[in-house]
Amino acid sequence: MCGIVGYIGKKQAAPVILDGLERLEYRGYDSAGMAVYDGSRLQIAKSTGRLNVLYNHTRGGEALPGFVGIGHTRWATHGMPNDVNAHPHVNKSGTIAVVQNGIIENYLALKKKLTDKGYEFVSDTDTEVLAHLLDYYYNGDPRKTIIKMIGHVEGSYALGIVFADHPDVLYGVRKECPLIIGVGKDEYFMASDVTAILKYTRKVVYLNNLEIAELREGGMEFCTVDEDKIEKETVTVDWDVSAAEKGGYEHYMLKEMMEQPKVVRDTLSPRIKKGEIVIEELAMTDAELANVKKIFIAACGSAYHTGVTAKYIFENLARVPVEVDLASEFRYRDPLLEKNDLVIVISQSGETADTIAALRMAKEAGCRILAIVNVVGSTIAREADFVMYTWAGPEIAVATTKAYSAQMAALYLLAMKLAKVRHYLHGRKQQAMLNDLMKLPEQIELLLNNREEIQRIASRFIAAKYVFFMGRGIDYAICLEGSLKLKEISYIHSEAYAAGELKHGTISLIEEGTLVAAVSTQPSLYPKILSNIKEVKARGAVVLSITTMGNIEIEKESDYVITLPESNPLFFDSLAIIPLQMLAYYIAVGRGCDVDKPRNLAKSVTVE
Ligand code: G6P
Repeated sequence: MCGIVGYIGKKQAAPVILDGLERLEYRGYDSAGMAVYDGSRLQIAKSTGRLNVLYNHTRGGEALPGFVGIGHTRWATHGMPNDVNAHPHVNKSGTIAVVQNGIIENYLALKKKLTDKGYEFVSDTDTEVLAHLLDYYYNGDPRKTIIKMIGHVEGSYALGIVFADHPDVLYGVRKECPLIIGVGKDEYFMASDVTAILKYTRKVVYLNNLEIAELREGGMEFCTVDEDKIEKETVTVDWDVSAAEKGGYEHYMLKEMMEQPKVVRDTLSPRIKKGEIVIEELAMTDAELANVKKIFIAACGSAYHTGVTAKYIFENLARVPVEVDLASEFRYRDPLLEKNDLVIVISQSGETADTIAALRMAKEAGCRILAIVNVVGSTIAREADFVMYTWAGPEIAVATTKAYSAQMAALYLLAMKLAKVRHYLHGRKQQAMLNDLMKLPEQIELLLNNREEIQRIASRFIAAKYVFFMGRGIDYAICLEGSLKLKEISYIHSEAYAAGELKHGTISLIEEGTLVAAVSTQPSLYPKILSNIKEVKARGAVVLSITTMGNIEIEKESDYVITLPESNPLFFDSLAIIPLQMLAYYIAVGRGCDVDKPRNLAKSVTVE
């Protein structure tokens, strides 16, 4: 997501920080800023847009004198991209400056508390609460103040902090978001990503969760939140810049797949409070929501596939009729939209031309529009009535993975909320579903850690001419996405089939050695898919099954089996898609394809 760079040493800090921020540009950002202590106070410079605006504004940093400072490139999550929302954020007297990467989940509650105590907020960000909270607890001892603040903050974050009355120290702390310390000769760096500092040093200390770094020109110290000192190992990184940008992974796509546990957690956990789903962005009363007669979902590409899965979940759980359309079809098919129908548009970029057109058409018809979007301030986010952000951070690989997973997570929350207000979900059933929901991030991690097995399977199918995916119900929706991933990046023709349709066409294409990926996660449909597996096997297919644990019959019939951890059947999209993403990835890598930038495809399709 956002980029952090900090410096303390003998050099002028601002040019070093700008240089570091420039090296983080590849991550995507919408605004940037710096805070530098100039010998008497903290000087702040911020600007929206490209880094060269900040560069020109500060004459390459020359205009900000001083030897300690923090900088930030922002990728908006809370509040539009503009100068006020750009980091650093400061307390009222301008003596404490903070930059943050992450999400402060309880920022609204903290903001209210601080407002009641007379604090005034200038931005819409979650980060500004941290500057005021530090101010509120400040007792002249920055370390103790930071520890106190952390005790009140929920979420995942990495922070760089400077205090004007302790300008000889640069502070850093993290929880779940990365923060590293670069070790130079009588100088120290802080960064969200090693790329930012490789030019200056290859000696790095990796901060762990809830460890506090204190960097002085003369040395560095680390402590825990109990103020126990810790010794940290300095390691030498031998990555080149290109590897460092990808977090050491070979491709952005792999890096982004590996980020999925975090983005799913970040989408879910701020919206689950005290055992209830709270979607503050959806400003409709429970009664209004309960009265929604029909839901339409319109989206393109992978976002459409999350909609297909959502239809099954919404109808099953909340008993509300859902129509799901490709946005390019929806806009021309003259759908029977009624005033007050709820139209959900789903988009990573928020700029997809057909999805925007679908939104505008539905708005014109008097529908209420809920957008599930990743990019804050995008066209879809601006034009929708309600926006649920997915907070997956910038996605660089053209083929989406982490944004898809975050969209799915947002849709689970919506389905459960809807089921609750319509009285289909409560008590133990709700609790059990919430438990399963919260287990998803670690289960996704488990599956990602199993990637060597998928790599081994993938290596056998690098020369495949075509691949079929089959499943029923939600499993069919999963197949649509699995098939798209494979064809997008490996250029192998693939098709997803509702398994019941096999006999109406596809089966004639099965030959000796054809790979068929069979997804079976829905207990009520196991016998059906088992018959389909037998049918394709009888015609020579090689079957890779993605299924739940203990499904002996299906395991026996399949050539390869990937088992998924236990969950609620309605949540299996999030688990089954992981091996399918990896299958596509490793087959494409094996074929020497440009995985991150597949031919002819664009990340954001802004024309019809
Ligand atoms: C392109 C991308 C896909 C994406 C689709 C919809 O085809 O390659 O990954 O799913 O557009 O984009 P959106 O930004 O609206 O989610």
